[in-house]
Amino acid sequence: MKITVVGGGYVGLTTGVCFAHLGHQVLIVEKIPQKVELLKSGKSPIYEPGLEELMQKNMKEGRLFFTTDLREGLEFSDVIFICVGTPQRPDGSADLSQVEEVARETAKLMKSYKLLIEKSTVPVNTHKLIKKTVQRYLKDPSIPYDVASNPEFLREGSAIEDFLNPDRIVVGIESERAKSIFEELYKDFKCPIIYTDPATSELIKHASNSFLAMKISFINMVADLCEKVGADVKLVADGMGYDKRIGRHFLNAGIGYGGSCFPKDVKAFIKMAEDYGLNFGILREVERINQERPVKFVEKVKNILWSVKEKKIGVWGLAFKPNTDDIREAPSIKIVDLLIKEGAYLSLYDPKAMENFKMLFPEGKQVKYAKDPYIAAEGASALLILTEWDEFMKVDLKRVKELMELPILVDGRNIFEPKEVKSLGFEYYAIGR
Ligand code: UGA
Repeated sequence: MKITVVGGGYVGLTTGVCFAHLGHQVLIVEKIPQKVELLKSGKSPIYEPGLEELMQKNMKEGRLFFTTDLREGLEFSDVIFICVGTPQRPDGSADLSQVEEVARETAKLMKSYKLLIEKSTVPVNTHKLIKKTVQRYLKDPSIPYDVASNPEFLREGSAIEDFLNPDRIVVGIESERAKSIFEELYKDFKCPIIYTDPATSELIKHASNSFLAMKISFINMVADLCEKVGADVKLVADGMGYDKRIGRHFLNAGIGYGGSCFPKDVKAFIKMAEDYGLNFGILREVERINQERPVKFVEKVKNILWSVKEKKIGVWGLAFKPNTDDIREAPSIKIVDLLIKEGAYLSLYDPKAMENFKMLFPEGKQVKYAKDPYIAAEGASALLILTEWDEFMKVDLKRVKELMELPILVDGRNIFEPKEVKSLGFEYYAIGR
């Protein structure tokens, strides 16, 4: 099939590359010219394992193209995936201006049938606004079109794997014509495909993200309780997770969820419910608990060291999760900020996210960037783990201990086994265990 993807960000690029990998012809429309130049030269603007290689392969094999021109995108195909950003407004609601722009400009240029598909996370009933906009701007009101919802569930860091092997595919449609296009598009996927109306489909995505965020805040509160009573949150999560109704995934306690999705989506879900006269109080608590996590973590560090003022502290991990260079809403930002305010001297290390972090925290008296995890630990009074990169699980902890001034390890992601690190002579603090 021929597919047009509007938006060359995380979701758009992964969607385009993966559809090309499945044998389709894909044109990605991205309005930032520099980004298109970069993409055309075979470079991915984001770090995502395997993405750049797969992109280059499909470009070489003539299935993946890029342009800045929406008109070209509409001439290329009848199937248009809308993958533009839906950033957060100050009141927490989603800013849908980019979605509106795509709908409007598409309508103006449309000469024949198009299927417009929302892939970005949007508030329920956004499809109605897209339809209204298309209808308003269509040059010829008799041109047929469909608007569908087909949310993406991929995670950063495992985007390709998630796209190609989803747990389910959700499709919200209103016509048989649209349905048959999706049937063709997803015919090789083995997972359940759920066909519903667009509003239900939009809600499935938003509610799923909110629910996963709720699991994380829930286990984080359990972790705090574990610390008070001397229990182990990892084992509590294991014990709970064996119950199929609960499941073990997303029950890892830590310093809170970050990224471009959960914080924004939870806020937008609360706001959306409010707009319909409902108080989704449970999600307000989810958000409050999450916002508290970095603050509590810094309190913990302060309690351990008594004072952090003018002490050197090593930090491993800045990305909001492993296998990405993304630091959007990463708990590390708040933690680093609070520690700087407390007068600490920080030596930061992350395998991929340091360049992005430098834009927020340039190198200076209190902030240094280390070339490797060992340099970050050198002379430190404590070492903090903020992202669970594989690399950190493989370091030579004996060497780390020798390099540090005090062998204090504060593990915000529970990557080590307390007994093992303690037996190496570390003073070890984890989350909820
Ligand atoms: C999330 C969802 O998992 C995807 O299904 C969805 O498609 C995506 O948002 C989106 O809406 O685009 P993502 O934000 O990439 O994906 O990453 P996650 O793996 O969900 O992690 C989010 C945050 O939760 C990270 O900061 C992570 O460290 C944290 N987390 C996750 C925990 O603290 N504990 C856990 O048990 C799991």
